[in-house]
Amino acid sequence: MPAPPLPRRLRGALIGYGFISAEGHLPAYRREQDVDIVAVADVCAPRLRVARAALPEARLYETAEALLTAEAGSLDFVDISTPPSEHATIAHRALDAGLHVLCEKPLTTTVTEARALLQHARRAHKVLFPCHNYKHAPVVKAIREVLVSGRIGSVRSVSLSTFRTTHAKGVPEWRTHWRRERRYSGGGIAMDHGSHTFYLAFEWMGAYPSSVTAKLANLEPGRWDTEDNISLALTFPTGLAQAHLSWTAGVRKVLYALQGERGAITVDDDDLEVAVRQDAGAPGAGRWTTERRRVSSDWMDASHVSWFNSLFEEFRAAIAAGTWVGKEAQDAAACVQLIDAAYRSAASGCRELPLSIDGPAEGAR
Ligand SMILES: NC(=O)c1ccc[n+]([C@@H]2O[C@H](COP(=O)([O-])OP(=O)(O)OC[C@H]3O[C@@H](n4cnc5c(N)ncnc54)[C@H](O)[C@@H]3O)[C@@H](O)[C@H]2O)c1
Repeated sequence: MPAPPLPRRLRGALIGYGFISAEGHLPAYRREQDVDIVAVADVCAPRLRVARAALPEARLYETAEALLTAEAGSLDFVDISTPPSEHATIAHRALDAGLHVLCEKPLTTTVTEARALLQHARRAHKVLFPCHNYKHAPVVKAIREVLVSGRIGSVRSVSLSTFRTTHAKGVPEWRTHWRRERRYSGGGIAMDHGSHTFYLAFEWMGAYPSSVTAKLANLEPGRWDTEDNISLALTFPTGLAQAHLSWTAGVRKVLYALQGERGAITVDDDDLEVAVRQDAGAPGAGRWTTERRRVSSDWMDASHVSWFNSLFEEFRAAIAAGTWVGKEAQDAAACVQLIDAAYRSAASGCRELPLSIDGPAEGAR
């Protein structure tokens, strides 16, 4: 019997060759058997020189527009890793050029842009896929396995804290501190890190939230125009979520807690603890069995390169299945809706604001 045809190699272009592109994406593409990165665009000449050294065969361009004009016919997808203010424009242009789009988070910096992009991908019959890489961290996969096993029952509340001692820096050749400049970032830590927190909360609570209350702070207002701390309370159909994100913490760490009806999961970076109640329903103090293990997840490596191939396999599968706007893209747009509402809540004295997050479009893929 003849062997099934090998899948065609995918040809991609990197748009924005900064930290995440060079340290988090390209090394992972090199591990992919059938992906070729054939072109790179970056507005910063020194970054193109770094790209030339890393990818001697690739064709280099000074703008995304120049790359898309010259390369559309020889590409399958683009990987957009510019600062967020540029994501929407470049993604629209790539969809117009007939290309699938892998885009770093946040998908866009406004709700209007996010909705328009999802509609465009559906019309264009091209995949729009966000880099929601925290879903691919080994310890987050371990949480998923425990939830699916049913050991802690349905989840009734979650808390997610992300502590960083500073904002992440971009490459020194461009604007290292762009995360503190609203015109490039669209916002501070909520815009930068909120997506990771929110798509995990959506998954663990099994729904989108129906309201948000937020409080934020900028501890260096004379220097930067974006927030460095935010606390949020989210209402879900089955319970509450709390999130706290800080760029002014004393330690770099993630702390997650998921409270289920029969037990709980707590995560402190690589340390996972699963407590399951043994005497559910009995009055008085409970008895739990507690399992503790380390799930090495490379949290200290900000490039998260070890999570990228797992994410890319989902992008590739979406292309193969023709899932133009799947759950990940819907979650990405939901994250933007939530970030926008959180900013409005904080600006109105932490008022609780209702959320009506878009569901899947009728009959859409
Ligand atoms: N998923 C993650 O874990 C993760 C981690 C880091 C960064 N990111 C995301 O990746 C993106 C880039 O972040 P970074 O830390 O790599 O930033 P960076 O500053 O290191 O890199 C950005 C690059 O984009 C280039 N650039 C700027 N405007 C451009 C334009 N219009 N066209 C082409 N190139 C342009 C810059 O010259 C620079 O080389 C952001 O969206 C960020 O949120 C995601």
